[in-house]
Amino acid sequence: MGMKISIIGAGNVGATLAMRVAESGIADIAMVDVRGDIAKGKSLDLSDAASLIPHESKIYGTSDFKDIKGSFIVVVTAGFPRTPGMTREELLSKNKEVVEKVGEGIKSYAPDSIVICVTNPLDIMTYVISKICGFPKKRIFGMGDDLDSSRFIELIAQNTNVKRASISAFVMGSHGDTMVPITSQAKINNKPISQFLSKDDIAKLIEDTKKRGAQIVSLLGQGSAYYAPSAAIFNLVESIIMDKKRTHCVSAFLQGEYGLKDLYIGVPVKIGKGGVEEIIQIELSPEEKKAFQNSAGSIKNSLKFFK
Ligand code: NAI
Ligand code: 2OP
Repeated sequence: MGMKISIIGAGNVGATLAMRVAESGIADIAMVDVRGDIAKGKSLDLSDAASLIPHESKIYGTSDFKDIKGSFIVVVTAGFPRTPGMTREELLSKNKEVVEKVGEGIKSYAPDSIVICVTNPLDIMTYVISKICGFPKKRIFGMGDDLDSSRFIELIAQNTNVKRASISAFVMGSHGDTMVPITSQAKINNKPISQFLSKDDIAKLIEDTKKRGAQIVSLLGQGSAYYAPSAAIFNLVESIIMDKKRTHCVSAFLQGEYGLKDLYIGVPVKIGKGGVEEIIQIELSPEEKKAFQNSAGSIKNSLKFFK
């Protein structure tokens, strides 16, 4: 058998990620879901596609946590998505119970794995899983800001009519309403976006980036985004398995970086086969610094409830 990754939660995000991983051929996949035989059903369906979009990955669906044994990576997408008008924070208590159970399972059956948390509210759920598992912090992190960064890039592309590949931009802070699109470092062909867009345009881009998740929730009417989220997770999985040491923005545990400690928050990091191999401290504008500290404050507020 090849490299194994487990995906907890075979819902929209989990199953779409399973498809991306399978089609890339980089790993075998175990999907775990507590909802009856849904993971098994989806794994059969995904496997049946393997001779059509050819790959040799094995996909296994189960409701038994034991089957995550031997996983190099465990991705946690178990939980409930937002409903229209609901904030990510309102999901907190509902999903805390879910990820606590999942954390226990990972601790028991995949104690050497790297864990990528996706369940919302992201920065809080990553903290909860980390507390339960007790693994070295570099082996547990959350995916949120890479998704927000992809939205920021897409909106810049749409507003300037330039190719996406010529844009570099990222978002830091909580994967929530206080996220901080880093405009001071956003570039088109290595030139600041302020050379292409007015102050008002940039302010609108920031707002639209922040609202993108909610916009999709409201348009779908049921559930939340999963194509871009699964793509963002896939890139992280690839960086780990291929030891790319690529820069991502993930929710990482800070121990003094950016003047913060004992919380998970989105920052630029290098991801390789060890997980979060380095936290990158970049220079922020005074405004961004303030917004980032404010975002950390909102995370700390939520954490107060269960410390
Ligand atoms: P979904 O409802 O389609 O799937 C969630 C699945 O988790 C369901 O099939 C459910 O049965 C399963 N589940 C619940 N408790 C479980 C447990 N204890 N063990 C195993 N499976 C369990 O939801 P979707 O759209 O896949 O989203 C999943 C989570 O990811 C939500 O919390 C959502 O808010 C979050 N999300 C986070 C993103 C991010 O950027 N961090 C992006 C997109 C979604
Ligand atoms: C998103 O940003 C729901 O967190 C998810 O789309």
